[in-house]
Amino acid sequence: MNHNTGCLLEIQDLSVRRGNFLLEHINFSLYQNEIFSIIGKTGSGKTLLLEAVAGFYQPDHGKVLYGGTPMCEIPVFRRHIGYLYQDYSLFPHMTAFSNIAYGPKIQGVPKAEIQARVKEIAAKFEIEHILDQYPGTLSGGEQQRVALARALIMRPSLLLLDEPFSALDPVTKRNMYDMIQKIREDFCCSLIFVTHDFAEAERLADRIGVLIDGRLCGIVKSNELYSAKWGQEVLDFLGITKKTEELP
Ligand SMILES: Nc1ncnc2c1ncn2[C@@H]1O[C@H](COP(=O)(O)OP(=O)(O)OP(=O)(O)O)[C@@H](O)[C@H]1O
Ligand SMILES: [Mg+2]
Repeated sequence: MNHNTGCLLEIQDLSVRRGNFLLEHINFSLYQNEIFSIIGKTGSGKTLLLEAVAGFYQPDHGKVLYGGTPMCEIPVFRRHIGYLYQDYSLFPHMTAFSNIAYGPKIQGVPKAEIQARVKEIAAKFEIEHILDQYPGTLSGGEQQRVALARALIMRPSLLLLDEPFSALDPVTKRNMYDMIQKIREDFCCSLIFVTHDFAEAERLADRIGVLIDGRLCGIVKSNELYSAKWGQEVLDFLGITKKTEELP
C-alpha cells in the first residue's frame, strides 16, 4: 500500500456518548486504498466507532473529516460509503436482486442500466443463481455476498464492514479474504473492518487499531501486532504475558 496517495478520512479527537458508554478522543487517519482493521473485546465500542465514522451520529466532540470536509456537512447520497452490518441486514421482503438494485433505483438510475449493473456485480460475487431468492432462504455466506454486492453497486470510496466473516466457515472465510483484496483493487476503495480474530486482522489489514473500553489504545502495522510496545491492557487483551525480567 502506498501512503503517499493521501488521506481519505481523518478522525480528529472524536468523542461519542451512547447511554452510559463513551467512545473517547479517537484519533486516526485512513489512507486512500488502505485496509484498516479495528480489533477489541465485545462491548469495547467497535460498532459504535464504525457507525460514528459513517456519520450516523453527530459527534459530541471532535470531527470526522472525509476528503477534508466534515462528514456531517456532506449529504448522505454524496458520501459514497458502503456499510455492511454485523448481521448483514438485508431487506427481508425483497429478493436478492431487489436488495442489490435498491441504491441505484433510489438514485433514479434507468432500469436497463440497473439490470446491467446488477448482472455485472452478481457475476463478480458468483450469486447470479440466487438473485430471485429472498434473504430468509439464503445461507450466511450468500447473504453476505448479496450485502457486499448491494454496498458495492454504489461504487463507494469507503467500505465499512462490521465483523464480516465471523459467521462463515473456514473455507468460505478464506475465499472472502481473497475477495476483499480483490474489492480493494477493483473498486479502488478504502476499507475498515471490525473483527475479533487477530489472525484475520494480521492477514488482511495494512494497519490495526486496538480499541479498549471506548479508547483507541494504539495503531500498528499489521505485521507488528505482537511486537509493538503496548501497555498492559492491550497485552492482556492480546493474551501476551510479559517476560519476568520486564516486570517491575
Ligand atoms: N444507542 C445506544 N444506547 C445505549 N448504549 C449503547 C448504544 N449503542 C451502543 N451502546 C453501548 O455501547 C457499548 C459499545 O457497543 P458496541 O456495539 O459498539 O460494541 P462492540 O465492540 O461492537 O461489541 P460486539 O463485539 O459485541 O459487537 C455497549 O456497552 C453498548 O451497550
Ligand atoms: Mg459490534
